[in-house]
Amino acid sequence: MKHFIDTQDFSKKELLDTINLSLLIKDCVKKGYYPPLMRRKTLGMIFQQSSTRTRVSFETAMEQLGGHAQYLGPGMIQLGGHETIEDTGKVISRLVDVVMARVIEHQTVVDLAKASSVPVLNAMSDYNHPTQEIGDLCTIVEHLPEGKRLEDCKVTFVGDATQVCASLGFITTKLGMHFVHYGPEGYQLNADYRAILEKNVQENGGSWLVTDDPLQALPGTDFVYTDVWYGLYESELSPEERHQIFMPKYQVNRELLEQCSLGVKFLHCLPATRGEEVTDEVLDSAISLAFDEAENRLTAMRGLLVYLTKYQNVGTEYEQLAAKEKLDSFLETLE
Ligand code: CP
Repeated sequence: MKHFIDTQDFSKKELLDTINLSLLIKDCVKKGYYPPLMRRKTLGMIFQQSSTRTRVSFETAMEQLGGHAQYLGPGMIQLGGHETIEDTGKVISRLVDVVMARVIEHQTVVDLAKASSVPVLNAMSDYNHPTQEIGDLCTIVEHLPEGKRLEDCKVTFVGDATQVCASLGFITTKLGMHFVHYGPEGYQLNADYRAILEKNVQENGGSWLVTDDPLQALPGTDFVYTDVWYGLYESELSPEERHQIFMPKYQVNRELLEQCSLGVKFLHCLPATRGEEVTDEVLDSAISLAFDEAENRLTAMRGLLVYLTKYQNVGTEYEQLAAKEKLDSFLETLE
């Protein structure tokens, strides 16, 4: 059994298998075949924070694959309140077949996974957002520049070093791609994150760079990615402060894209602050993949759920029949 807490826990092949599985299931669903691969399985969805894409895509994925999801929203369960996180993990994993958790602190999802007897997926923490990255890579695979392989692509994240920026760096370098974080000093990926990028590049090829120099960051970029400047839930900077730090240099607008490859595509994990990290003109343009990317959250959730639960055993047909006969015999004895 494996948890999905960090893409670093997976090999390049395992990540590619997950991406390809996600895209194959997407094709089945598009053609009207809903493979019942989560039949009779239940997903426990723990949320300490609000969410649109993650919540809706997990629940839809379970329904489409023949399973069921239980929404366990902020304040609805005893997570670290009247019960320890470890006890919550032990109990919930006996009641459902797979768990996902969007948490405030990364350690919470790590502790949940340690205590859990079923797979746990990290649906975003203050450290990373790995399920987002499977959807992002599905989107990139679907829009590879003509004649290029993944390993030939340069992906440039523009702006604040959010957990999405870090996670994008992790997965692209694991896959041997070329990753750049283009952001202002003080808001760049820190030394711990850079050490992981370096390790990935040593093992898988590709390259990484963190810079505030547009001439190093932008030319040759196939995919420009950005995220909000304030942190997703806790507003740490006022709009005025954000503008002072990031504007106009790090806004993804037409002028910035003109410095990238011809044929550059735009990605955003959403939600977006329109007019801040990206202009309406870019977000709504033909080169924007942001809404395909949002749809591919569902693509990724289906693939991940199937991939992580594929080893879950049920009894053999013979054992099932024997259990059924025992139950039927008992039911006949009831008044
Ligand atoms: N991108 C993302 O995780 O969106 P939600 O916060 O709406 O789930």
